[in-house]
Amino acid sequence: MFLICEYQQNDYMKIKYLPILLVLLTFCASPKKETINKIDNKAGSPYEDKIEALIAKMSLQEKIGQTAQRGTSSRGKGLSEELKQAVREGRVGSFLNLKGKANVAELQRLAVEESPNGIPLIFARDVIHGYKTIFPIPLGQAATWNPKIVERGSRVAAIEATSMGIRWTFAPMLDISRDPRWGRIAESAGEDPFLTSEMAKAYVKGFQGDNLNSQTSLAACGKHFVGYGAAEGGRDYNTAIIHDQLLHNVYLKPFKAAKEAGIATYMTSFNELNGIPASGNKYILQDVLRDTWNFDGFVVSDWNSITEMIAHGYSENPKAAAKSAANAGLDMEMTSQAYDNHLEELIKEGAVSMDQLDDMVRNILRIKFKMGLFDTPYFDKNQDVLYKEDHLVSAKEAAVQSMVLLKNRDDVLPINEGRKIALIGPLADAPHEQLGTWTFDGEKEHTVTPLSTLTKQYGKKVTYVKGLANSRDNSSKDFKKAIKAAKKSDLIVFVGGEEAILSGEAHSRANINLPGAQEELLTELAKTGKPIVLVIMAGRPITLGNILDKVDAVLFAWHPGTMGGPALVELLYGKASPSGRLPVSWPKTVGQIPVHYNHKSTGRPASKESFVHIDDIPEFAWQSSLGNTSHYLDAGFSPQYPFGYGLTYSKFNCEGLTQSSSSLSNGGKIVVTATLNNIGDRKATEVVQLYVQDEFASITRPVKELKGFKRITLEAGKCEKVTFEINKEDLSFYNADGEWVTEAGSFKFWIGPNAMEGLSGSFEVE
Ligand code: NOJ
Repeated sequence: MFLICEYQQNDYMKIKYLPILLVLLTFCASPKKETINKIDNKAGSPYEDKIEALIAKMSLQEKIGQTAQRGTSSRGKGLSEELKQAVREGRVGSFLNLKGKANVAELQRLAVEESPNGIPLIFARDVIHGYKTIFPIPLGQAATWNPKIVERGSRVAAIEATSMGIRWTFAPMLDISRDPRWGRIAESAGEDPFLTSEMAKAYVKGFQGDNLNSQTSLAACGKHFVGYGAAEGGRDYNTAIIHDQLLHNVYLKPFKAAKEAGIATYMTSFNELNGIPASGNKYILQDVLRDTWNFDGFVVSDWNSITEMIAHGYSENPKAAAKSAANAGLDMEMTSQAYDNHLEELIKEGAVSMDQLDDMVRNILRIKFKMGLFDTPYFDKNQDVLYKEDHLVSAKEAAVQSMVLLKNRDDVLPINEGRKIALIGPLADAPHEQLGTWTFDGEKEHTVTPLSTLTKQYGKKVTYVKGLANSRDNSSKDFKKAIKAAKKSDLIVFVGGEEAILSGEAHSRANINLPGAQEELLTELAKTGKPIVLVIMAGRPITLGNILDKVDAVLFAWHPGTMGGPALVELLYGKASPSGRLPVSWPKTVGQIPVHYNHKSTGRPASKESFVHIDDIPEFAWQSSLGNTSHYLDAGFSPQYPFGYGLTYSKFNCEGLTQSSSSLSNGGKIVVTATLNNIGDRKATEVVQLYVQDEFASITRPVKELKGFKRITLEAGKCEKVTFEINKEDLSFYNADGEWVTEAGSFKFWIGPNAMEGLSGSFEVE
């Protein structure tokens, strides 16, 4: 279809000056890359002389002290005399979870003024999706497909956390997560290495700011290195078996992107990787991280993950665990004290060399120097930056952009102003729950819920019935009340999902439908004949098979954080149009998992033509595989909603695919374009996605891989030309010989609104 539309004014300018811009960008981009490498290379670091001078003065005990991260409970307040004495003696390098400005200041004073060489401490905390002002959970932030939102969210978190003396966060979590049963999928950016890498760069930039040296810079920690998201069966802490090509082509990619963005630290994961626990795994810690990537920051273990190597069946005792971890290149130990108790002995026995220990200490001191802790160890205690107005505005915008409209039968959304609403459900007014997992510091008193937004901010008369005490409540005692309210309304807005505690660490679920009696309540409400808008707040995709037909609209809100209420209400009433897109494929049923768009083809790829549903198999059919392909008889082969999917209140089409060439040579690039048209009647945002397939290669490649995306907002009736560039580097992969290569041959590409639709073209790599 040829569509005449008006280009937005600035688009014309973009197109006219695009060639000049591209030349300029290419010119400016290359030196920047080199600078990053230079800064990260320790040979070029301005601190090396200072580090060496300091190491020369340090006693063995002090060196071991730098490798110790001591914990206090995340809820704890006081300081024990034992801890204070350990700091005075230089036996601690870092603290985690210490609460209270005065405690932080006191321990830092002891370290700087009373310990033998006055080495400052670094204070760490899990500041995952906000400190006080809580942004949507990371999976929700990934659903914005907007790195600027993520960067802003982590900047806000950094400003707030550093005002309390915290200078190091255990974030971002960069684990590729392809199993929504795994509770920690909530903390991830989903299933895709490209999207996660873009988010990784944004997190690092946001947390660390322009310079680690700044007082508002929060050193970032890429975790969990590596393979934690590949836990078998989605059960937390479980074994990960990841072959080398998959490790490099998928799981390591976001960590590499974080390294290139200048991340200061990494954390090892709890899992074993191909038989060797990550905390004792020399291949990933030394060969990959140091020797190949040239990383010069430091690596911390996860909580007790060094001594957990005993339970893994890898180390016989804490001493053996300390030996494996140190020799693998793990610099700092979180909470357990295997280094503290055994490194001295191991060094004396020659089981760990002094050179190895010195290297560990160097890595830690390098970051402390880069952070300016030696010059400015103390923080300004008088700052008042928590919950600042602009922080709340940013948190609301992030929540608006994160919510994904999955279904909208007969355009039931946006809600017409005059309609009488029954607000029902366990999460409509649950301030603590909407903050989501890993929010030690978020406060429900500062959280704005959908109910309070509707009634207090918008002054609407809403009939509210909770219906269920919480998301897991199985009782039907309040059903009648809910049904009565529904009958008196024009429309039901049901806000359900999962409480915050149902996702996150150690909170995996075998069934991922709406818990408790939520499905039953929705089924009863549907019988009233009133339209139902289902809003889900949850930490993972939720299987909807039992209720999808019974509801008219589904708006997926993740756990949206402090400003979730106002964000939701803006979308419900059409003040903004939904623009979130799925960062994960959405399963129809748990039995389909893992279901991710970038799977391999198999020798018998599934297709609509070959699919036979379980109900269509004739009785006594001949037992034969012929004609069948790689699918489930009862669930087919596609997800409920594909990766990248999301609706808006307008309609878009993409047309007029062009490509600058049909072949790609060394040093060259292919420019592909398409025109995006807003053919609906309101302003809205589309996320245009570029996918590529390497059709034949020396190792099989995924059926599609995301290689680019653009969020584009258009007024009704407007259009914009969308441009992507593909070069050889974008197509490279880690082959069976452990080399990064781009092989000659044919490639397909797609430009579209999600992983299952799009305009397609092809090209040859020479
Ligand atoms: C364990 C978690 O796996 C990790 O992500 C977190 O940062 C540490 N505990 C510290 O709380």
